Amino acid sequence: MRPLKIAPSLLAADFAHLADDIARVADDVDWLHVDAMDGHYVPNLSIGPPVVASLRQATDLYLDCHLMVANPGSLLEMFAEAGADGITVHVEAGDTAGLIERIRGLGCRVGLTLEPSTPFAAVVPFLDQIDTLLVMSVKTGFGGQAFMPEVLDKVRSARTLIDEGALPCEIEIDGGVKAQNAAACAAAGVDVIVAGTAIFGATDPAAAAREIRANAEAARS
Ligand code: DX5
Ligand code: ZN
Repeated sequence: MRPLKIAPSLLAADFAHLADDIARVADDVDWLHVDAMDGHYVPNLSIGPPVVASLRQATDLYLDCHLMVANPGSLLEMFAEAGADGITVHVEAGDTAGLIERIRGLGCRVGLTLEPSTPFAAVVPFLDQIDTLLVMSVKTGFGGQAFMPEVLDKVRSARTLIDEGALPCEIEIDGGVKAQNAAACAAAGVDVIVAGTAIFGATDPAAAAREIRANAEAARS
């Protein structure tokens, strides 16, 4: 079984003190999830390449960049040059095969994601070409929304196909994940857990990350 990874979403961190917030959790997490929103694909604005470049100077942690943008193709080079380790694009943005090839060519790990309303079948043709399948468990746009348990059916379907095909693709989940539902995510087959509010909204973010990991690990073994 792949090692479980915890990826706190910086969307819920203090944007004026990102390096401080990262330092508080760094020993207890595996990746940093960077939510890039452009005000078009989603009605919210957040982090872009200049912030990723500053994050790159502040941490060695893997920067997992989730592009919620209308035209991801116009931003791939900028994210890669800024220091993104992984770039995840939405299947809803179109030209998925082309974007996968370009991300790979930039030397980044390739992620593909889908909205809760998008059928799992939309990502199946790409499972053998990507490093991470990000299953959205909220409609994209905002942190702090309620987890949608029905998306775990997609996780189970992906787990089956990935295991049957012995594919290297990891399964990541994003949106509304907290200590109380981390076990269900892990039991369904998740490898990477994104949590924003549940970690950076906690009084002790590192303890919150450890609790999510412990609950998830218990459900895997
Ligand atoms: C939603 C983002 C998520 C979100 C997670 O559009 O992609 O990464 O910030 O935050 P929580 O864990 O608060 O739902
Ligand atoms: Zn995200």
